[in-house]
Amino acid sequence: MSLDLTETTITEAVQKTFTAAHDDRMREVFCSLVQHLHDFTREVQLTGDEWFTAVDFLERVGQMSTPTRQEFVLLSDILGLSVLVDQIAHQDGSTSTTDSTLLGPFFVEGRPKAENGSDISGGVDGTPLFCHGSVVDSAGNPVAGAHVDTWHSDGDGFYDVQQAQKLHDKLAMRALLTTDERGRFWYRSIAPRYYPVPTDGPCGEILRAADRSAMRPEHIHFWFQAEGYEPLITMLFRYGDPYLETDAVFGAKRSLVVEFVDHQAGETAPDGTTMTEPFQTVEWTFTLERKDQGDVTDRAEQT
Ligand code: BEZ
Ligand code: FE
Repeated sequence: MSLDLTETTITEAVQKTFTAAHDDRMREVFCSLVQHLHDFTREVQLTGDEWFTAVDFLERVGQMSTPTRQEFVLLSDILGLSVLVDQIAHQDGSTSTTDSTLLGPFFVEGRPKAENGSDISGGVDGTPLFCHGSVVDSAGNPVAGAHVDTWHSDGDGFYDVQQAQKLHDKLAMRALLTTDERGRFWYRSIAPRYYPVPTDGPCGEILRAADRSAMRPEHIHFWFQAEGYEPLITMLFRYGDPYLETDAVFGAKRSLVVEFVDHQAGETAPDGTTMTEPFQTVEWTFTLERKDQGDVTDRAEQT
């Protein structure tokens, strides 16, 4: 019955329209979405003007979005939704594997492959940084042949894709590496810096209206993929960073805060070079979770 609906009867009427959905999960998600959306609207007694403002806002989020500027993802990030979804996916609370966190908008599919030990800075100036990682399973055994994606900002807090003109469209400060037989990977780059999430779009309006910080603490991104293991998307955050407690996208975790060690000019770098300028080193062991042995679909997809 959808005639003469009232503020209270409309919710069930809309939910009923999903009962014939072939997909059980779709029915469950949409019925719940309608329930929460209507409850929210009743709770705040949303006005017509506010509804119009919200629709106009979402329209502008869509207009701003491109493959390299994902304003909708940013909206999800600043509302804590991206981290919440990630938490739900990893709610087994396992403490024996490295914590995951959000992907962010700056991962690029076409990143260059690099050999261990190479310089992935792409010639961008900055304080040299030597990153050494190990990839192990929860028993501490090395994971050889794991794919390691890494990407980070420059010393002013900008990613390569944010300065495409200056870098002549060249990708920099990112690479795809592979762990050696002892599960190790290592590279040289430049030290990243904390930075604001993009605020020149509609999401910036929310941050400013709420007087919220746009800053993300300094970090390096990693995405590990290895056969037989769950993928791991994570970051390492610099110990002592002033924005750790107020990450604009709620992605910082205590377990991922590590020491970026400062070294003086004249000291020897991990690659054996005597450095003529100050540099940093960071070292970490990442622990991957084995894929559920019973997961036949995944195994089938890999073959
Ligand atoms: C990032 O860490 O690259 C990032 C994550 C969320 C929003 C903006 C940037
Ligand atoms: Fe980032």
